Amino acid sequence: MSKIEQTLSIIKPDAVERNLIDQIKDIFKKNNLSIKDSKKLQITKDEASEFYKVHQSKPFYNDLCAYLSSGPIFVMILEGENAILKNRELMGATDPKKADENTIRKLFGISIDKNSVHGSDSLENAIKEINFFFKN
Ligand code: CDP
Ligand code: MG
Repeated sequence: MSKIEQTLSIIKPDAVERNLIDQIKDIFKKNNLSIKDSKKLQITKDEASEFYKVHQSKPFYNDLCAYLSSGPIFVMILEGENAILKNRELMGATDPKKADENTIRKLFGISIDKNSVHGSDSLENAIKEINFFFKN
């Protein structure tokens, strides 16, 4: 059954810095995820802390928020059939070393923290995360 969804994708500072935006966008487009809206911006550490609030009890939370706010990021609303799961599949495992061949994290990720992309993990979080960046 066809299920058209929207999800949030972020190209993280390590990948923006290495000029990988166009290559990553091409992977989404080739896999039938269209980019409905996008922008490049830099967020503050407070904004990153709000965005990653679900991880606030994790040992890596502080470094994660410092990292996401350390340089420009590129955020996108992706739309397509099963977009949430499809984006997660295209991204690959959180740790690039464990990611499948040809996934974005395998191709471009440097380490578990500098893993090039973020993607919403559920419908509920996709809505929240799209609103975080694209609605006032
Ligand atoms: O991004 P993903 O949903 O795959 O992973 P997560 O478990 O939601 O963690 C969010 C982000 O925290 C990851 O993408 C990593 O950049 C970072 N992280 C980390 O630095 N060290 C860990 N042990 C786990 C996650
Ligand atoms: Mg996650």
